[in-house]
This record gives sequence, structure tokens and C-alpha cells, in this order.
Amino acid sequence: MEKISVLIEALPYIREFHGETVVVKIGGHAMVDDDILEKTVKDILLLYFVGIKPVVVHGGGPEISEKMKKFGIQPRFVDGLRITDKETIEIVEMVLDGKINSKIVSYFIKNGGRAVGVSGKDGLLVVARKKKIVKRIGESEVEVDLGFVGETEYVNPGILKIMIENGYIPVVSPVAIDLNGNVYNMNADIVAGDIAGALKAKKLIMLTDVDGIYRMEGNKRVFVSKMRVDELEEMLKGGELEGGMIPKAEAVINALKNGVEKAHIINGSKEHSLLAEIFTKEGIGTMIYR
Ligand SMILES: Nc1ncnc2c1ncn2[C@@H]1O[C@H](COP(=O)(O)OP(=O)(O)OP(=O)(O)O)[C@@H](O)[C@H]1O
Ligand SMILES: [Mg+2]
Repeated sequence: MEKISVLIEALPYIREFHGETVVVKIGGHAMVDDDILEKTVKDILLLYFVGIKPVVVHGGGPEISEKMKKFGIQPRFVDGLRITDKETIEIVEMVLDGKINSKIVSYFIKNGGRAVGVSGKDGLLVVARKKKIVKRIGESEVEVDLGFVGETEYVNPGILKIMIENGYIPVVSPVAIDLNGNVYNMNADIVAGDIAGALKAKKLIMLTDVDGIYRMEGNKRVFVSKMRVDELEEMLKGGELEGGMIPKAEAVINALKNGVEKAHIINGSKEHSLLAEIFTKEGIGTMIYR
């Protein structure tokens, strides 16, 4: 009976999300091991088989760093962005497209799903330009060259729509291209947010390695289970977010501005957090709404 009541509790959510597109970003930091990753894939398949249309975007930061070290390159970051030279962009493509994307697709197949792996290059899904950042050093402003780090110029969601309409689950790696054929390393959160906006997804869900967003109240760190998007904008402007949470916040703000209803930041390293967030009243992570 307990199992049945769990299903019944999920009914209103299944009804609400049936036929809707949900973008799920699996953070590199959420893929703590293969077992957790496969469980996440199964959760996404459950969404699919109750009539939700999932689109997966994945990261891969930790594995890129590990491979770089194997090739004798020390990873370096400026404001959380990886300095990406010619050798590094090759490693980025090798790890993201060749390994992680392909592994996620395999787990879908193994568990009875039809997934298709694409990078942001395929079908000109994500067209990028070189990202420029300026740093203040004393009195002067200096432009920092990050190499092949891109930012979104525009998104062509056509290829994803074709896949979704035909019952496939797209799995997108955050590698993009410009019209001259230069390949760029993209932040996966930003790509997920832009894709969610372009598809007018119902939800954007980010799986990471923390329970959600924390904020400082006095000198206490407090977990936020719900916040309006303008509150998140305030936090971002006020410098309350650091490192990997900055692009997550930017992606969420962008997605909601482009018509996505709600965004969720949850702990993907905890089993079945995705299902708990979507199918229970309480949820478990941070929900951001308009
Ligand atoms: N205010 C905050 N609340 C919660 N986490 C924060 C905050 N500020 C910074 N963080 C950091 O953001 C990190 C999550 O982003 P991170 O980029 O490391 O992971 P990811 O995006 O899931 O993985 P990947 O970048 O490989 O796809 C957390 O581990 C946490 O340390
Ligand atoms: Mg990140």
C-alpha cells in the first residue's frame, strides 16, 4: 500500500507535466560514480515513460581536469572558467563527446531508452563566439585570453525538436562552434539554460553536488528551498554566489526570462533526487520561480 500511495501522490505532477519538455543538466560534479549516473539515467527514463519529454545536457569538469593532468597540462581557471588552449580543446572534445556523452547514451540504451548523443556543434545547435573577459588589476582593465572558451551567440533547437517529436531523448554535450568552424568549450549550465529557453521548456533542472542554493544570514549559512528569480538576481549581483554557482544562476535567470516556468537546483549525487523534486510536494532542492 505504501508503494501505491507514492504513485498516487505523484499523479497530479504526472498529469501536470505530461507532454511537457523538461531540460535536465547533469553536472560533472553530480556524476560521482557510474552507479549514481546510471540511477540518474533511470530516473530520466521514468520521466520519459510517464509522458514527459526530457532533454539532457551534461557537464564533465572533473574528468576534463583529470585527463589534462594525464597529458601533463595543469588546469587553470579564471572566474570559474577553464583556460582552454589548442591541446585542451582537443581533450575537452575527447572527454565530453567521446567519453561522457557516449557513456550516458549507453546507459539509456541499457535501460530500454532511445537516446541520441549530440554536441552543440551538431545541426548548428549552439553557435558560439569567443568569450571575452576583462579583469581589473589595480587602476587598469586587462583583457584575459581564455582561449577556446565560448559564449552562446544563438541556439537552433531544430535538431532537438526533430528528435523529441520522434520519441528520442537528446543528450547534449556542451561543445559549440562558430561559423568559421572554431570549436569552443562551453559552460554546461549556460548551454542547458539557453536550450531550455529556446525549447520553451516547462522546467530546467540542474543536478549538482550541493543540495541547492545557500545564503548567508548574519554569519549562518542557510539553505533556500524556494526563491523568486529577482531574489536570485540580487544574490548574484551582491556577490553571494561563487564558482560554479555563478553560471548556474545566470542560466536559471536567462531560462526563466525566456519563458521557462521553474528551475530547480538539486543534489544529483543523492539517489533519486530528481524524482523527489518533480513528484513530491515538498521537493528537496532549491526551486526558482518567476
Ligand atoms: N551560495 C552557494 N550555494 C550553493 N553552492 C554554492 C554557492 N556558491 C558557490 N557554490 C558552489 O557551486 C558548486 C556547484 O557548481 P560546479 O560547477 O562545481 O558543479 P557542476 O556544475 O554540477 O559540475 P560541472 O561544472 O562539471 O558540470 C558547489 O559545489 C558549491 O561549492
Ligand atoms: Mg559547473
